[in-house]
Amino acid sequence: MKTASILFVCLGNICRSPTAEAVMRAKVEELGPDLGANLVLDSAGTGGWHVGEAPYGPMQAAARARGYDMAGLRARQFAVADFGAFDLILAMDAQNLADIEGQRPQAGQGAPVRLFTDYLPAQSAFAGADHVPDPYYTRDFDGTLSLIEDCAEGLRTALAG
Ligand code: 4NP
Repeated sequence: MKTASILFVCLGNICRSPTAEAVMRAKVEELGPDLGANLVLDSAGTGGWHVGEAPYGPMQAAARARGYDMAGLRARQFAVADFGAFDLILAMDAQNLADIEGQRPQAGQGAPVRLFTDYLPAQSAFAGADHVPDPYYTRDFDGTLSLIEDCAEGLRTALAG
């Protein structure tokens, strides 16, 4: 695996992006310490309402039921410096992507921003989805977690290639 630093971004950094970070971290551990050591993962929100907070309780509970512990994560807001600090920024939906791109200081410079769903494997039950639905509003924490697991599997495959 190539050395890579990846930032997952959603709106509040208490549901989708910390879950993506935690699931991807678990995937990386499956790869083994040598490969996983080359990957830096973080998450942030475009909004600042929940800065300093742990992930949303119901999201944590759904994740914990599948073995992902995100209790230690704390929300932070996306910052312009993140364009230079990461190799790749993965947005959960088109609004997140637009909000991030709107802060890019200079076109063509800094980390590319893509949708996390771009990595969905063709065989995924969610193939074709173009965003990660926000369970803070849908209340479907398990569904969003399943989609994130498939996106993370596709990302792992892309990084391992
Ligand atoms: P997230 O969900 O973007 O997946 O963390 C949200 C959580 C909280 C709020 C918005 C989205 N909020 O406005 O408080």
